[in-house]
Amino acid sequence: MWGCAEPCLGWGHFAPSPVLFLSLLLSAAPFGLLGEETRQVSLEVIPGWPDLPQNLLHIRAVGTNSTLHYVWSSLGPPSVVLVATNTPHSVLKVNWTCLLSPNPDGGLMVLPKDSIQFSSALIFTRLLEFDSTNMSEAAAQLPGKPYPPYSLAEFSWNNITDSLDPATLSATFRGFPTHDPTKAFANGSLTFKVQAFSRSGRPAQPPRLLHTAETCQLEVALVGASPRGNHSLFGLEVATLGQGPDCPSMQEQHSIDDEYTPSVFQLDQLLWGSLPSGFMQWRPVAFSQKQGNRESALPCHASPLHPTSEYSLPKSPIVQAFFGGSQNSFCVFNLTFGTSRGPGYWDQYYLSWSMLLGVGPPPLDALSPLVLGIMAVALGAPGLMLLGGGLILLLRHKQYSEYQAIN
Ligand SMILES: *[C@@H]1O[C@H](CO)[C@@H](O)[C@H](O)[C@H]1NC(C)=O
Ligand SMILES: *[C@@H]1O[C@H](CO)[C@@H](O)[C@H](O)[C@H]1NC(C)=O
Ligand SMILES: *[C@@H]1O[C@H](CO)[C@@H](O)[C@H](O)[C@H]1NC(C)=O
Ligand SMILES: *[C@@H]1O[C@H](CO)[C@@H](O)[C@H](O)[C@H]1NC(C)=O
Ligand SMILES: *[C@@H]1O[C@H](CO)[C@@H](O)[C@H](O)[C@H]1NC(C)=O
Ligand SMILES: *[C@@H]1O[C@H](CO)[C@@H](O)[C@H](O)[C@H]1NC(C)=O
Ligand SMILES: *[C@@H]1O[C@H](CO)[C@@H](O)[C@H](O)[C@H]1NC(C)=O
Repeated sequence: MWGCAEPCLGWGHFAPSPVLFLSLLLSAAPFGLLGEETRQVSLEVIPGWPDLPQNLLHIRAVGTNSTLHYVWSSLGPPSVVLVATNTPHSVLKVNWTCLLSPNPDGGLMVLPKDSIQFSSALIFTRLLEFDSTNMSEAAAQLPGKPYPPYSLAEFSWNNITDSLDPATLSATFRGFPTHDPTKAFANGSLTFKVQAFSRSGRPAQPPRLLHTAETCQLEVALVGASPRGNHSLFGLEVATLGQGPDCPSMQEQHSIDDEYTPSVFQLDQLLWGSLPSGFMQWRPVAFSQKQGNRESALPCHASPLHPTSEYSLPKSPIVQAFFGGSQNSFCVFNLTFGTSRGPGYWDQYYLSWSMLLGVGPPPLDALSPLVLGIMAVALGAPGLMLLGGGLILLLRHKQYSEYQAIN
């Protein structure tokens, strides 16, 4: 029931067992008790050569004893390098001569080097398109026959300075294929909207992921591009750095609460390893309309991660500049949006999907006030308080051991 082998959303039907109900209460409680942490967050476009679009965005989030750096760029395929340091004074150094050279090793540095506690990267390598017409009932979960993918390294990207909004701490990379013989993107574009936060909260737009000051959000949207078939499904190929021979782990969390993302009871995560570590987190849902709602929700399927050779991937200069060219291993996975049935990109030529990227323990939704209210009525408030109080102690331990198990 909870495993989403079927259409990856738990659409509508569900009936939690008492055991599950309790364990959900357990895993939700301690996070609800954490205090809010705020950070001084700044967004800065790092100027490059005058004739190149300005496409290096530095998000710096300073806390009492730490600084997080998110460096987003559309030099090559859209990529982000995330770095966590244990000092409020760490800085990003960019050497453009080096970054734009054929061998960018060392062109991007966070100093002092010994303050770095964690670093990794994501590269959005390709926009995938599949023909889902004529899919049999049995194969309906597969996206269909692939069309040749669009390499995002061969896109032209806008000057992000124009979209930089210090009030909302956001900026948007907008791109289209440099070479577009069929004019598929004549009226369309692919956008990567990046947003940082100085405190925790939840955006108004679904999927309303809970963010903290340690995270930044990415919303990918495909708007107005002509699909190559009547029933095209789209997808994204994502690459990340491996850890030695292993790939980061992919994990699913389940909840009984869908108040913030109607009918989605699942949260997917990619975890890079032991603390202090990083994560990518998303709801397995995308939307085929700007006002994301239940009617326009599409399931989002993530493939398992596969190790891959660096040579088969388009090169990301910022990733090579920070991590060096040689001793890195990469892992890739595909995200595909929609099924051959139900709503799709074809409705309005619109598709959007969001994720969070962060460092530290991933934010986890506490049960919403509505669900807590229902539980309080169902269990009786005194019983609930007793249960909650007793379990908090138990859980400090549980939280720790759960983390160990992930590694
Ligand atoms: C990018 O936009 C900013 C503000 O509009 C402008 O100052 C800058 O020169 C632009 N850069 C390029 C390379 O066009
Ligand atoms: C920051 O560091 C100081 C001194 O090392 C320590 O006392 C304090 O607890 C730390 N604060 C946080 C929030 O980690
Ligand atoms: C920047 O990189 C170039 C080429 O790698 C190098 O010659 C130059 O000394 C570097 N500049 C600084 C300030 O480190
Ligand atoms: C659809 O599938 C049927 C049976 O497999 C096949 O005969 C037909 O040619 C297919 N149509 C298209 C447009 O691929
Ligand atoms: C792009 O939009 C214009 C005006 O709305 C329209 O005439 C044209 O056919 C569109 N092109 C494509 C490839 O959709
Ligand atoms: C797409 O749909 C139109 C109208 O329904 C139809 O004429 C056309 O053959 C379809 N194209 C494909 C590739 O299935
Ligand atoms: C992603 O999809 C493409 C196109 O279908 C395929 O070639 C590739 O092997 C897939 N990668 C993974 C990791 O599943």
